[in-house]
Amino acid sequence: MVWWFDVPKVAFGEDALDELEQVHGERVVVITDSVVKSLGFPDRVKEILDRGERTVTIWDEAEPDPRVSVVKNAAGALEQANADLIVAVGGGSVMDTAKAAWVLYERPDIKLEALSPFDQLGLRAKARLVCIPTTAGTGSEATRAIVVREDETGRKFATINPELVADLAILDPELTRGLPKNLTAYTGMDALTHAVEGYISIWKNDFSDACSVQAVQMVFEWLPKSVDNPNDLEAREKMLVAACLAGMSFSNSQVCLAHSLGHSLGSVLRLHHGLAVGLALPLVVEFAAHDNPETAAHIAALGASVGVYEEEHEAAARAFANRIRDLQKRIGFPASMRDAGVPREKFEESLEQLVDYAMMDTSITMTPRDVEAEDIRRIYECMYAGTRVGF
Ligand SMILES: NC(=O)c1ccc[n+]([C@@H]2O[C@H](COP(=O)([O-])OP(=O)(O)OC[C@H]3O[C@@H](n4cnc5c(N)ncnc54)[C@H](O)[C@@H]3O)[C@@H](O)[C@H]2O)c1
Ligand SMILES: [Fe+2]
Repeated sequence: MVWWFDVPKVAFGEDALDELEQVHGERVVVITDSVVKSLGFPDRVKEILDRGERTVTIWDEAEPDPRVSVVKNAAGALEQANADLIVAVGGGSVMDTAKAAWVLYERPDIKLEALSPFDQLGLRAKARLVCIPTTAGTGSEATRAIVVREDETGRKFATINPELVADLAILDPELTRGLPKNLTAYTGMDALTHAVEGYISIWKNDFSDACSVQAVQMVFEWLPKSVDNPNDLEAREKMLVAACLAGMSFSNSQVCLAHSLGHSLGSVLRLHHGLAVGLALPLVVEFAAHDNPETAAHIAALGASVGVYEEEHEAAARAFANRIRDLQKRIGFPASMRDAGVPREKFEESLEQLVDYAMMDTSITMTPRDVEAEDIRRIYECMYAGTRVGF
């Protein structure tokens, strides 16, 4: 069987942003959101692009967890500018807005809800895409994935297509320097979840494994430093690289149950994506390894790469889950949904909807163990209370 490993070209390091000057494109639209705009990065990007002969427009109406209607507005801006270069400057929400708008701009006949990994989109007939992350987590700058929300229900759905990998990713640590501690922790947990899920998904492969192992090691080493000292540019750069590697891993392998649980939490309770998947991660590690020798062995090997050893594989996987909990405690990440401030009544009245949406999420099929609605319900209960999964 033939597999493909798709990644973008990557420029990384201090002052990597200046590389934009070399990028071809005469009619450029910079996609961003109002918070990132207020930090000045899109203007800095425009300044660099303006050194060439081109027109540059900034569109700053992206929102967290973008709705399809907002994506359509962004596509309208691309159409209006007749864009031949799209530059996304922001977190995962901005990059996904740009990627999804790019699809609608090039292929107005396509419905995002119906986009499949096998569609031949023919992207790049009109424009190319540069992604510049301002958070170190989603890895969207390197992935085939987009995550958007239905307007009517608020349900988040993920879709993938190989053509959605950006042409160029620029990782410049100056752009994540000011990221607040909680967002640094949440987005860092998203990166770790991508690395771990990319390593256990049923589509894991040698290339994704290599990216995952390096990303896991880097997150354990550099995330605490990024949280402790927001101005540590070396730590910021290492976390951008770790997040990008983790994106490369899961984009070519897939995420699984922690993302299904997390997308549902993002849809129903509007939790930040990294917070939601990070709360799920240790529980999913325990669940995936339970009475499941092959996956337990994989997780034991991943744990060994950060110095977690136990003779028996399932015990090693449980020890790795606890190592993740130690890291979370170290960076001030909540130990449960309750700690994250979700009221008990709210959780209980949302539980059935949470289970339904998690079961509908496509990533669930990549989990290396069968998952029933009852398992999901029990894992959410553990996630709420901060207890372990023993089933
Ligand atoms: N396409 C993919 O491969 C992929 C992968 C994982 C997650 N996602 C999606 O990405 C979204 C989450 O992205 P995210 O975690 O980057 O958060 P985000 O993009 O939603 O941003 C969260 C908040 O942080 C602000 N922000 C961004 N950069 C900042 C900076 N440098 N300083 C201060 N504030 C800043 C934003 O304006 C926003 O208000 C979710 O919708 C998630 O589902 C996509
Ligand atoms: Fe994620």
